[in-house]
Amino acid sequence: MFIIRSIKIPINFRSFRTTRNLNYSTCAKKKACVLQLNNGTQIPVLGLGTYLSPPDQVLQAVKDAISVGYRHIDCAWFYGNEAKVGAGLHAKIADGTIKRTNVFVTSKLWNNHHAKDKVVPMLKESLSKLRLDFVDLYLIHWPMGFKETAEPLPANSSGYSDVDYLETWEGMEECVHLGLTKGIGLSNFNSEQVERVLDNCKVKPVVNQVEVNPNMNPKKLIKFCKERDIVVVGYSPLGGTDSTGRPGVPLPTIRDPKVIQMGKKHDKSAVQVVLNYLVSLGIVVIPKSVTKSRIEENFDIFDFSLDISEVAYLDSCNKKQRCVPLKEYKDHPYFPFNIEF
Ligand SMILES: NC(=O)c1ccc[n+]([C@@H]2O[C@H](COP(=O)([O-])OP(=O)(O)OC[C@H]3O[C@@H](n4cnc5c(N)ncnc54)[C@H](OP(=O)(O)O)[C@@H]3O)[C@@H](O)[C@H]2O)c1
Repeated sequence: MFIIRSIKIPINFRSFRTTRNLNYSTCAKKKACVLQLNNGTQIPVLGLGTYLSPPDQVLQAVKDAISVGYRHIDCAWFYGNEAKVGAGLHAKIADGTIKRTNVFVTSKLWNNHHAKDKVVPMLKESLSKLRLDFVDLYLIHWPMGFKETAEPLPANSSGYSDVDYLETWEGMEECVHLGLTKGIGLSNFNSEQVERVLDNCKVKPVVNQVEVNPNMNPKKLIKFCKERDIVVVGYSPLGGTDSTGRPGVPLPTIRDPKVIQMGKKHDKSAVQVVLNYLVSLGIVVIPKSVTKSRIEENFDIFDFSLDISEVAYLDSCNKKQRCVPLKEYKDHPYFPFNIEF
């Protein structure tokens, strides 16, 4: 039995339509749940993150994840490791574990390439590295554009471009028309930016990928997106890769003694408690790991349910503190985190 909050989702091979019009289907181990996207495709609620996964380790991580049952890999041009991710995918296609159509692959357009005529070439570059004919989802990584000639993370505002993300969106739509991606979406867009895209698009965004963990739990944005049939993909679900207590980086909830205790009650780890809680919010999670035992652990979250008091505690952890604040760009006209949500 898989639990979306208090809604019980049976593990059988029937689809289940919730009152929120989201389609959760088979959640048995080895077969992750999916959510329905507004373009008619489905996205598995659990995927493997690949940011900061070293190229020499990510190939094995992808192979391990596919063997465990993951059918969703989150990639980006910016991560610099798409060729090795592709090698991992192809190894599992070659050994017969999956077909290309059984795995959901996401890539993202980086900020230096927001000009409309750069979008298709950048997706083609990612596809060439991944050795794929199409991705399932292509995202604008951030709403802020940088000059093509600037560093990927420019030191100051001289590296900013004034390309409007609506222009970028036209390039994204072209990617769909060319069959290079099944769906297109946003990442790190606030509610006003999402609305502006919706008001001006020909092809609707299917997701908005934003930071979601118990410390940074953007419930208003999640509600806003759901009401517009946009699925939220939650990144840094475990509190990000820098969870060492560095100043400004909140100690992740996976280290909270109360959450560790909760895990013991369910014979689960604190990480599994947090991932189960996040999926129960009706979002997709993409924990990153290059460690086989953790890749297995992070997938084994569908066979228990938290009680009301446990959910209430995790709800109360929201400190609205980001692991990825990117405050250095707060004076960019399209910086997304200057409004409430
Ligand atoms: N759209 C965006 O702007 C954006 C921004 C950030 C992230 N993302 C995406 O979201 C993914 C996930 O976010 P993230 O990488 O920032 O952070 P995360 O998934 O919250 O945390 C990853 C860290 O947790 C560790 N970890 C994984 N499983 C664990 C477990 N079971 N127990 C203990 N530690 C565990 C990993 O270590 P090991 O790898 O050493 O096991 C890694 O250091 C990224 O990889 C990327 O694909 C997108």
